[in-house]
Amino acid sequence: MMSIMKIKIILGSTREGRMGEAFATWVMSELSQRSDAEYELLDLRDYPLMYYSDPVPASMLQSPYIPEIRNTWAEKIKEADGFIVITPEYNHSFPAVLKSALDVIYKEWNNKPIGFISYGGAANGSRAVEHLRQVAVELQMAPIRDAIHIGIFTGQSIFNEDGTMANTHENKKLSGMTDQLLWWSDALKTAREKKIV
Ligand SMILES: Cc1cc2nc3c(=O)[nH]c(=O)nc-3n(C[C@H](O)[C@H](O)[C@H](O)COP(=O)(O)O)c2cc1C
Repeated sequence: MMSIMKIKIILGSTREGRMGEAFATWVMSELSQRSDAEYELLDLRDYPLMYYSDPVPASMLQSPYIPEIRNTWAEKIKEADGFIVITPEYNHSFPAVLKSALDVIYKEWNNKPIGFISYGGAANGSRAVEHLRQVAVELQMAPIRDAIHIGIFTGQSIFNEDGTMANTHENKKLSGMTDQLLWWSDALKTAREKKIV
């Protein structure tokens, strides 16, 4: 019997006063109502990874890595079957701290699906996600079709006082996107175990 799938939700902003935390709270609260996978939040504040400065690309590195925190990060990514990244848009892209987290390891990402939730101004963070999709392909990941893009400068509250999403349509989108991610997680886990990929 296949073991329960592990889905990691990566919170891609670390700055003081970040809005990302409210999005993570909403996502984790919604996902906690599902019993079809194990959902764990990875807050990049807990993984202070340095900018990449190794002499060769991470694809050529062997674990154990230096510094130690990179091993802790690598273990979390290695055990995962799929990912949801929560990202803001910084200067038409995603935050450098998130790029760093993606760059510091390689094979642990390979052949796993990844879905995206963005938030931002004019384009609702979607430009950050378009860049992330390209990076994900380079990491040999499978970016899934469905994504969530939320506008934060609409003049309306995004969250209710209890942290739930004001626009309940976003809950439905999250549910559908998670279903799609699980389909891919299952398919690619099976393929990885058969060593097809
Ligand atoms: C360095 C920086 C650059 C930004 N650039 C953009 C941008 O290009 N597009 C956009 O929609 N919002 C941009 N914003 C606004 C962010 O979407 C908004 O501040 C959001 O709250 C950032 O997420 P965070 O609070 O979780 O860090 C930028 C914010 C910062 C701090």
